[in-house]
Amino acid sequence: MAGLEALRADEARRSAAGYGDGALIVCDRLVRVYSAEGIEVQALQGLDLVIAPGELTAMVGASGSGKSTLMNILAGLDAPTAGVVKVAGHDLGSMAARERVHYRRSVVGFVWQQTSRNLLPYLTALQNIQLPLRFASMSQPARRSRALELLEMLGVPHCARRRPDEMSGGEQQRVAIGVALAGAPTLLLADEPTGELDSETAADVFGALQAANAELGVTVLVVTHDSDVSGMARRVIAIADGRTSTETLRSAPADGGGPGHAVEYAVLDRSRRLQLPEEMADALGMRDRVRLEAEPDHIGVWPDSPAALPASDAQPTGDEHA
Ligand SMILES: Nc1ncnc2c1ncn2[C@@H]1O[C@H](COP(=O)(O)OP(=O)(O)O)[C@@H](O)[C@H]1O
Ligand SMILES: [Mg+2]
Repeated sequence: MAGLEALRADEARRSAAGYGDGALIVCDRLVRVYSAEGIEVQALQGLDLVIAPGELTAMVGASGSGKSTLMNILAGLDAPTAGVVKVAGHDLGSMAARERVHYRRSVVGFVWQQTSRNLLPYLTALQNIQLPLRFASMSQPARRSRALELLEMLGVPHCARRRPDEMSGGEQQRVAIGVALAGAPTLLLADEPTGELDSETAADVFGALQAANAELGVTVLVVTHDSDVSGMARRVIAIADGRTSTETLRSAPADGGGPGHAVEYAVLDRSRRLQLPEEMADALGMRDRVRLEAEPDHIGVWPDSPAALPASDAQPTGDEHA
């Protein structure tokens, strides 16, 4: 009973704090457990994430850290085991079938890693982009001109009449972005869209995502393990063990050219728990416990070593017990 009350109090505190107010994506302690052959895999372990409308965010993390699981949930293709996930006011955990169809068709667009999964091989780029519009109340000429505009914006107008096997991998992925954007979604999700491409081509594909973000205002979330690509994003979120761990925010360069100044952040969850980045903690041998000191404008975090204590409080050494 006491546990339940504590949980409710926590809940009340969280909603009073206005967590995720005005955001486009809000994940609150998202959990996804897969059960396969009697073995449970916790792919997401209480993930918290807030993304504002109009942001372009890159997501990085080791293989198996839960990135695709999160993307599939955000795409409305999978449902969380526990926790809350809201996108553009839709509560994805409790959507009825009809709302889910509308969500997938009109709110979210998706680009997959495998180029073959994004485009139909026997249709041209133009036809591929017009395909998702077949349900829209749009005339054929309007559909065609929308598809042409998208190809232009994504830098592949020369591919209009080509089928996928007549395009390079990078061109196919840029056309795939066009397919995902055809229905004018609010959110564009791309799960390792550059995974099969070399770095230079990957940068072109990322450039197309940036163009979509800047020109259409669509919110973009892109998973990538190409550091050249993630280095182009203003906000990079690292996922580790099914949770958001650190974030890098890069300021826009003052002169408009060259990379901006990058600052690393750790994520504070709603209970203000903080996970120190592994490399930083390892470098100082931090484990089990760290020493904190409140300063007027920051909090200091030190390794837990006896040397850090005032002499009178020092722990007895092992020798004294012997
Ligand atoms: N359909 C599934 N059934 C069982 N386990 C799964 C399934 N999909 C993913 N997993 C497991 O969940 C974890 C997270 O996977 P995933 O989200 O694909 O990670 P990432 O995209 O970051 O590489 C992994 O341990 C993976 O093996
Ligand atoms: Mg993946």
